[in-house]
Amino acid sequence: MTTSTQLLPAKNELVLVTGASTGMGAATARELARRGYHVLAGVRRETDANQIQADRIEPVILDITAPDDIESVAARVGQDSGSRRLRAVVNNAGIAVNAPVEVLPLAEWRRQFDVNLFGHIAVTQAVLPFLISSRGRIVNITSVGGKIAMPTHGAYAGAKFALEAVSDSLRRELAPLGVQVVIVEPGGVTTEMAGRGIATANQLAEGMTSDQHGRYDGLIGAITAQAASFTKTGVPADIAGRAIADTITTPNPRTRYTIGRDAAILVRVARIVTDRTLDAILRRNLAPHYAKR
Ligand SMILES: NC(=O)c1ccc[n+]([C@@H]2O[C@H](COP(=O)([O-])OP(=O)(O)OC[C@H]3O[C@@H](n4cnc5c(N)ncnc54)[C@H](OP(=O)(O)O)[C@@H]3O)[C@@H](O)[C@H]2O)c1
Repeated sequence: MTTSTQLLPAKNELVLVTGASTGMGAATARELARRGYHVLAGVRRETDANQIQADRIEPVILDITAPDDIESVAARVGQDSGSRRLRAVVNNAGIAVNAPVEVLPLAEWRRQFDVNLFGHIAVTQAVLPFLISSRGRIVNITSVGGKIAMPTHGAYAGAKFALEAVSDSLRRELAPLGVQVVIVEPGGVTTEMAGRGIATANQLAEGMTSDQHGRYDGLIGAITAQAASFTKTGVPADIAGRAIADTITTPNPRTRYTIGRDAAILVRVARIVTDRTLDAILRRNLAPHYAKR
């Protein structure tokens, strides 16, 4: 992994990073700019655009659920196609909409899938002609949640499992065309995500009936406490950003990378143990996070 902070010579290549206002997206944008790429950094607000703007970082307004934004960004990539080719897209934007399956309204299921799955597909479709012509790369940020579905994470894990599957299909479709597809599966990384996810989970819990409170309050409390503790002990976002940048600069990337020790262990364990054993492991890990009575 590259660890220097020195600015490397400019390359004549673009990379598009979605969800670059905070967390891993912002860190990846900065690291790729340091390594010489001209980064189109997707953000949703002008304030975030001003914040991320820097030498070699050009903010673009990109809500990945907004077709007009996607069209504008594809046109921006097209403007440079004669001089600077698109080396990669990093499909990183994401939200966490967590509640028990019984409780989560369908509109919230759709919102989760609109951002964490369909948005990435829409962005990929829009820039794919440029990547085919540059023999570039698609980097999809999934999660350990794309391998293991925690209780209350049905929607998040559902969208991440689906993004893993779509990435596998895409890799097999595009390999003959010279476009590589890389999946990155982070474990706990210290970003805004856990805080935002906990706020959403608490808001959704307010809509529960008293019976549902009886059934799920303890579980929701334990899951959110566990998420908060993951954030404290997580990999710093800058380290994750370097690992993501490595998937673009390495000559022969693997199909999948994990980020963090927790992810490396859990993804391997999930592959070899039975469902019942995995249930027991998850239950044991969650037990210390239940409120003491
Ligand atoms: N942090 C972790 O522990 C962890 C673990 C596994 C996987 N991941 C994945 O890593 C990715 C990055 O997350 P992060 O941890 O860096 O979280 P983060 O700091 O919350 O960043 C999420 C980014 O996604 C953007 N976003 C949300 N909705 C969007 C939309 N509709 N269109 C475009 N951008 C949108 C946010 O922009 P706004 O500021 O405008 O909302 C923000 O820039 C996500 O895909 C997440 O699922 C994170």
